[in-house]
Amino acid sequence: MSTIVVYWSGTGNTEDMANNIANALGVSAKAVSDVTAAEVLENDTIVLGCPAMGAEELEDGEFQPLYDELKANGQGKRYAFFGSYGWGGGEWMQNWQEDAKNAGLNLVADGLIANGGFDAIEGDFDSFIAAIKG
Ligand SMILES: Cc1cc2nc3c(=O)[nH]c(=O)nc-3n(C[C@H](O)[C@H](O)[C@H](O)COP(=O)(O)O)c2cc1C
Repeated sequence: MSTIVVYWSGTGNTEDMANNIANALGVSAKAVSDVTAAEVLENDTIVLGCPAMGAEELEDGEFQPLYDELKANGQGKRYAFFGSYGWGGGEWMQNWQEDAKNAGLNLVADGLIANGGFDAIEGDFDSFIAAIKG
């Protein structure tokens, strides 16, 4: 079962989370600009990282288009989300997971969030990793 970790990060916090998550899963994290949707869809388990942007939204230039392609063509895969936020209390992650469920995506872990970088993660990292490994 192959796993990919793909992230967008403006100032490095989500990248920091991505590298730690990928390391725990035994893979390398990929920046969204370095992969195509087709490459992402070669994997069974797709771990996506994006910080809170806009008004409790996903980054719309690079990340949202990839995510939209996955929603259209990536049914039947296993998904987990993570990302960094600044002030919204994690509302973007609730919105994102709700959207994914409405789109019929199979979320295998509760979204991992951090008010900052990896050092600030909330929730249980080991449970997040274990749920992704399945
Ligand atoms: C344009 C912009 C919009 C943002 N919107 C939100 C927001 O709606 N809610 C929130 O909690 N943080 C928001 N933030 C804060 C970022 O999510 C936070 O700085 C995060 O750590 C950035 O992650 P990164 O280092 O991976 O880019 C915003 C930041 C920017 C630059």
